[in-house]
Amino acid sequence: MAIIENKKDQTYTLYTKNTMYQMKVNEIGMLIHTYYGNKMEYMDMSLVNRTWGTAFSPNVQDVEKYISYSHEKQELSCAGVGDFRLTQMSVRNTDGSLGCEPRFVSAEITSGKYSLSGLPAFYGEEAQSLKVTLKDKVHDVYFHLMYGVFEEKDLITRAVIVENKTDAKISLEKALTVTLDFPDGEYDMVYFHGRHARERMLERKRIEHSKAVVSSIRGASSHMQNPFAMICDKNATEDYGSVWGLAFVYSGNFEICAEKDHQEKTRLTMGINHENFKFEILPNDVFICPEVAMVYSGEGFGKMSNSFHKAIRENLCRGEFKNAVRPVLINNWEGTYFDFNADKLVSMAHDAAKMGVELFVMDDGWFGKRDNDRCALGDWIVNEKKLQGTLKNLSERINKEGLKFGIWFEPECISADSDLYRAHPDYAFAMPGRTPQVSRNQYVLDFTRKEVRDNIYNQLVKILESTKIDYVKWDFNRHITDLYSISLPTERQGEVFHRYILGLYELLERITSKFPHILFESCSGGGGRFDCGMLYYMPQVWTSDNTDAIDRLKIQYGTSFAYPVRTMGAHVSVCPNHGNARTTPLKTRGNVAYFGTYGLELDVTKMTDDEKAEIARQIKEFKKYYDLIQYGDYYRLLTPFHPEESLYCAWQVTKDDKSEALVCAVRYESDASTAPQYVKLKGLKENAWYTVNDSEEKYLGAALMNIGLFLEYDFISYPSRLYHIVEVK
Ligand code: GLA
Repeated sequence: MAIIENKKDQTYTLYTKNTMYQMKVNEIGMLIHTYYGNKMEYMDMSLVNRTWGTAFSPNVQDVEKYISYSHEKQELSCAGVGDFRLTQMSVRNTDGSLGCEPRFVSAEITSGKYSLSGLPAFYGEEAQSLKVTLKDKVHDVYFHLMYGVFEEKDLITRAVIVENKTDAKISLEKALTVTLDFPDGEYDMVYFHGRHARERMLERKRIEHSKAVVSSIRGASSHMQNPFAMICDKNATEDYGSVWGLAFVYSGNFEICAEKDHQEKTRLTMGINHENFKFEILPNDVFICPEVAMVYSGEGFGKMSNSFHKAIRENLCRGEFKNAVRPVLINNWEGTYFDFNADKLVSMAHDAAKMGVELFVMDDGWFGKRDNDRCALGDWIVNEKKLQGTLKNLSERINKEGLKFGIWFEPECISADSDLYRAHPDYAFAMPGRTPQVSRNQYVLDFTRKEVRDNIYNQLVKILESTKIDYVKWDFNRHITDLYSISLPTERQGEVFHRYILGLYELLERITSKFPHILFESCSGGGGRFDCGMLYYMPQVWTSDNTDAIDRLKIQYGTSFAYPVRTMGAHVSVCPNHGNARTTPLKTRGNVAYFGTYGLELDVTKMTDDEKAEIARQIKEFKKYYDLIQYGDYYRLLTPFHPEESLYCAWQVTKDDKSEALVCAVRYESDASTAPQYVKLKGLKENAWYTVNDSEEKYLGAALMNIGLFLEYDFISYPSRLYHIVEVK
């Protein structure tokens, strides 16, 4: 049993294989958080939640004993009643007062994982769910705290459903999903910041007595911050220390805040960004706070990452392509940009097929009069002049070359220079009397409105039904400004950001379930919406518009903390790289792209015979190691962020029985007088013998892990090597 209710102590304990999460109803019915960490046989309540009064911390008058909202560790913290720390929920009551004091009502344990209407969420029959219902002391406002427990994966999910059972409307001015209270205060926060073409750069800072905030107010989870963060011991490493990882299953505005309080305890809150947010709940209606997924590891970052990887692969991604071998694709974007016609694409497909590529993706520029990025978004009508015939003609020509056919869309945006905008200028977000901001020459469609979504849906269906399409790249190339919807009254404009995401999810559900045989890849100017929300609908994401193998080391390294290799779109492109003019060996570009979905993004017709042969070799090699790479345990060995520690970045994937591993090492810095470099492997059997790249020599697992693998010296810029480690039986 993953969830245990102890009626006598009024505790609820969630057990996973290695972790334990516990809450307790106290003497006045508050739901107190008692513990989240390593699994224990017995919980000594006398050690838990010891607090004493301090001046200026008001006390609740329900009992003689001193209880202050400002001291207690809580499962749901509310603003307005004396909790001066970070709070999770701000409820504006029917009488206009802001405040709420939730008290325990009931608890229910069910088998299987709860789902959330209209929102993405982890799923699984093997999970157990707990619903704890609390009610405000005064008003008929209910909070259903949802917990999902995936025992084997060490994953616990949380969501909150707020229900208004009063006879008038209330509003939420803040509706976060999680309060997580830690007993003490010495922690670091690790998070992933960035910008376009530089996503998920790792940063780590001490949590002090001021708010540490990671957030987005861009209408998308964004390149700037990722909706995933970790709290960890200040000395935690890849293999050591306590780490709590939290991922938001949501693709819009978010906030993750942490602070050390006046009693030196750390609190974390996480959920939808409360800036520009206010949501009304009508009588008998509910508001659902999107899901947060949590993993605790007592053995550093690596273990936490692997729990997330497995859970995302098996309990978040859906559909036919969840477990299927995905096709090696070629995308024409960096090869041609807007400058192509059907003959050009077919010639690329022809050469690509010979190398073993399986899918051809036609990127931006095939519709309306789109020969540049200043027009035509919203007009999803095939440009038959450019395609020298119909879409069906083209897809058939590509199929004849032996390749499947895929296509690019940007359904959420609209160009001012489009027939759709000329017919319906009100479809785009704009504030009354104000000229909207333009970004990449385009506006964002008001997806809070069903008629707008329907218009795009119908256009997409028409294209997708016009011929056999095996793949769709779903892009989103700007952020939301000028937030105002004509569909909502003045006092409800604070709902628009969230309603946009709900509208997007409704459309994604409709389109992905109508076309279950299509492989969908999400994209937002590269990896601007790499989050667990999008992964529920689309099992892979274009990781970054930056295809330079060396820049990708940091991007893929940062991404790997939460997201598995299988979700990371990674392509080999041309050199000098279009983004930074760097030249790297083709082999290194391939080795880096292997640890993603591996594909091509260049004009193959311009490659030399040697280069073509190298790509053919890479495709074979990638396929040979496919299962190991896609499903193996992932270990970060050497970071690309600290050249002073090693000139190499290295990582390893390992079969779950530890009998086989693949290590990749890339030298990303040069040094005229390089000292011998080693990389210590992980996760092998200490007492087993292994060969390295079919070597005659055998190495003891313990030696490979304690002394390390010697990295051969290649006298070129940015060399890389793969090391295939196989147990000798
Ligand atoms: C975005 C994507 C690119 C490409 C272009 C097309 O930038 O990230 O891969 O599809 O749009 O306009």
